[in-house]
Amino acid sequence: MLAGGCVRRSAVDRNSFSNSRAQISLLAQSSTFDIFPRMSISQVSSTSVESLLKEDRIFPPHTAQADALGGANVESLEQYHALHARSVADPSGFWGEIAQDFEWFKPWTSVLEWNCPDAKWFVGAQTNVCFNAIDRHVLEGHANDVGLIWEGEPQASGMPEVRHLAYGELQDEVSRFANALKALGVKKGEIVTLYMGMVPELPIAMLACARIGAAHSVIFGGFPAPSIVDRVLDAKSRVIVTCDGAWRRGSVVPLKKNVDEAMQSLVAQGHAIEHCVVLKRTATPIEWNAARDHWWHDVIAKESSECPCEAVDAEDLLFVLYTSGSTGKPKGIRHTSGGYMVYTAYTARMTFNLKPNANHVFWCTADIGWVTGHSYIVYGLLPNRVPTLMYEGAPNFPAEDRFWEIVARHRVTHFYTAPTAIRAFMKWGESHPKKHDLSSLKLLGTVGEPINPEAWIWYHEQIGASRCPIVDTFWQTETGGHVITPLPCATPTVPGSCTLPFFGIDAAIVDETGNELPPNTGGLLVIRKPWPSMLRGIHGDRQRFIDTYWSRIAGMYLAGDGARRDERGYFWIMGRIDDVINVSGHRLGTMEVESALVSHPAVVEAAVVGMPHEIKGTGIAAFVTLSLQATASEALKAELREHVSSVLGAIARPDMLRFTAALPKTRSGKIMRRLLRDVAAGKESTQDTSTLDDFGALAALRGNDE
Ligand code: WTA
Repeated sequence: MLAGGCVRRSAVDRNSFSNSRAQISLLAQSSTFDIFPRMSISQVSSTSVESLLKEDRIFPPHTAQADALGGANVESLEQYHALHARSVADPSGFWGEIAQDFEWFKPWTSVLEWNCPDAKWFVGAQTNVCFNAIDRHVLEGHANDVGLIWEGEPQASGMPEVRHLAYGELQDEVSRFANALKALGVKKGEIVTLYMGMVPELPIAMLACARIGAAHSVIFGGFPAPSIVDRVLDAKSRVIVTCDGAWRRGSVVPLKKNVDEAMQSLVAQGHAIEHCVVLKRTATPIEWNAARDHWWHDVIAKESSECPCEAVDAEDLLFVLYTSGSTGKPKGIRHTSGGYMVYTAYTARMTFNLKPNANHVFWCTADIGWVTGHSYIVYGLLPNRVPTLMYEGAPNFPAEDRFWEIVARHRVTHFYTAPTAIRAFMKWGESHPKKHDLSSLKLLGTVGEPINPEAWIWYHEQIGASRCPIVDTFWQTETGGHVITPLPCATPTVPGSCTLPFFGIDAAIVDETGNELPPNTGGLLVIRKPWPSMLRGIHGDRQRFIDTYWSRIAGMYLAGDGARRDERGYFWIMGRIDDVINVSGHRLGTMEVESALVSHPAVVEAAVVGMPHEIKGTGIAAFVTLSLQATASEALKAELREHVSSVLGAIARPDMLRFTAALPKTRSGKIMRRLLRDVAAGKESTQDTSTLDDFGALAALRGNDE
């Protein structure tokens, strides 16, 4: 616990010690969690913490893996350490050299200007991200090489729709849509909102924005209308691009209908969308307003496929992407052009050991609505001239082997997914991957949450045939690209650890005063030096940017995760330290869910916490106090769950919902969340309840098991 602003260290921390299991498990009971007043074991993936603390299996890289990948980009741990030391000692020299691999219309005058918390990278330089992703390859003679592979979800005739888009075709399609955006009056610097399914036209629209110097805000297609309203208002978008519908598990998600609902409520709030471009995907009947709505195929029909790339400043906005924080309002994370381009492409090249001429096919299973899709389906992949695969639908449609069918069909070499998906695959059973030829795979990756060693080993054996290296990549919407990750031919991996910082990343575990902690001591994960793709702010909220990331520890970027570093220097992420929970690898603010619950007339108060969940890692537990007029019933529980889903999307639907006459609070009125977490996890609480105001509330919660 924090006492007088200082971190109280446990006896274990004060002594230097070796990595013995007894000591580590003692650590698990004491310091790791004690220093985080708002964090408990139940906030971290269900099985991960206990097993993470015991894990000591090492998987060293071997030469056969490097050969399979077409040769190592970084050959050994020694080489990694030497390069890392240099990158941190001389960031300008290091990144200046890396950036030479990209096309710049005007060179920089200085690589970095750092005035904490404001970083400017490649100052004075001009470039265009779309040019580096596409045009450059066309100019270098690769117009006919495939850059994007797309597979649709429906399999009406047994075979899905597949598209292979070569760089030349991408250039034409992007240019046409870029011209269409210009014709609709889109100007350099404005933010276009994209709310689409996983269709090729989504990256095409993103790149079209980049091409003309406009920025985009992609909204995940699983979000309902209220999420569109908030984000459009914040970004002040005048133009929105959507689809009639999106395919998901055989049914249609009514995207245009959601946009219509959002546009109506936007008008009521004094903001009118001027143009809504609609891609026909599902041929679902939709409402149409001829003054505002345009078919995608109509707007591109009259446009030429010539559209020069606008020269933009390295620090011009490339996109805003909204992510949950610890208040009810999502944060619009701002990323700019030069630094984000260099860092995402370089991390993709090194972390995945990509080579342009080695028959690599890279598949990241994330949705482009999240940062993983932005960085490792689109922006990090295309500049490397390695085909990037995107799949439209669900992993279990029409059956649980769909992903493995895709791997076999497209001879996927690199497969990048989330631990929650791996746990679902485990549950579905190994018979599904066994039905398909997965011999093309050379590298596996994970992202989004700590991976429990059981899932890591299953992934390694059942999907990677004990042959493929696994890269467990730690990063965030705010970091733009991987910040802690193994390099596949250099870093020995240990299941559950994301291992070592990427080049240029000065990561550390510190206490509340910013002092670095000794090995195996839980603390705050920080980054002490700027890196090229770091966030450049929260859109329209300077103070929140400073408060969230830069105030708690002066001069350092606070990631918001608790972690420890072992005696090898490897990082072990323990989970969020704020009121954000990580549900199926997606960030969700508990306050957002609470606000959604309270917006229902039957609810007077709600508290939301994370609880262990077999597949999702963390599930959502909601404790709800009803108004006097409302009557508790199973039907009302179902209605409230549905209500949350309609406000925030299915991701936020509570897994467990309990009615309670009162919430346990301290005398000062603070809800005792740790206690609720214990109740949700079915544990006897060890927390001191001496300040608990209403012991009756706790007793009632305990007795009120679902
Ligand atoms: C968590 C996703 C452990 C972490 C790219 C972080 C991870 C949040 C890992 C960011 C990992 C991401 N191991 N935890 N390899 N990767 N996280 O912004 O809590 O959606 O702060 O970015 O996910 O989530 P975001």
